[in-house]
Amino acid sequence: MDQNQLKKLVGEKSVEWIEDGMIVGLGTGSTVKFMVDALGKRVQEEGLNIIGVTTSNRTAEQARSLNIPLKSVDEVDHIDLTIDGADEISADFQGIKGGGAALLFEKIVATNSKQVMWIVDESKLSQQLGSFPLPVEVIPYGSQKVFERFEAKGLNPTFRKNADGSMLRTDSQNYIIDLHLKEIADPHTLADYLIKQVGVVEHGLFLDMVNTVIVGRQDGPEVLEA
Ligand code: A5P
Repeated sequence: MDQNQLKKLVGEKSVEWIEDGMIVGLGTGSTVKFMVDALGKRVQEEGLNIIGVTTSNRTAEQARSLNIPLKSVDEVDHIDLTIDGADEISADFQGIKGGGAALLFEKIVATNSKQVMWIVDESKLSQQLGSFPLPVEVIPYGSQKVFERFEAKGLNPTFRKNADGSMLRTDSQNYIIDLHLKEIADPHTLADYLIKQVGVVEHGLFLDMVNTVIVGRQDGPEVLEA
């Protein structure tokens, strides 16, 4: 199976955890796209009664096209389960997210969820975080100053750009600075530093947040409890 087939495998497997009546956080990304398709199928074929809380305009559009009822995070009093992708997961279940620039809404939805599940192909697992560049969402005003501060600290920042060279904007119209760190020895200390920088809106370290990980392996999906 290629990477795409592994993503489909875990996307389709994950909807088995969704039960009638649940409020479900819907993540963002190419793996989640398979999950939302499978969920849409259950809604249509089984009459599954759920409410989705989306984490990006992209996922909201897809969910709407499948007639999945949606509410915003502020309209629900709880979220039972959020299913999302991840860019890297360490052996102790810490994660990097935001490769799809949706980290801010993803973190808000995950933080307000009773249970969080990540669905990944096996290439996303690593011993220690850092091989995937760490996304940091920043307000455009003053972002050059934040960039220079990161540079001076040796965090190897780059602004994320669109294919045409323009600055990428998140759903909240912010910029993303990616930190090319290779290894992150102490994610909690780095997370504390990042969130304290003026101009930083959120960062892609998702620490102590996940309950279940489904890994797509060649011989089938593997379910790991964190
Ligand atoms: C979106 O901002 C990300 O956090 C995604 O969840 C993550 O990038 C995984 O994406 P893929 O499923 O496309 O690999």
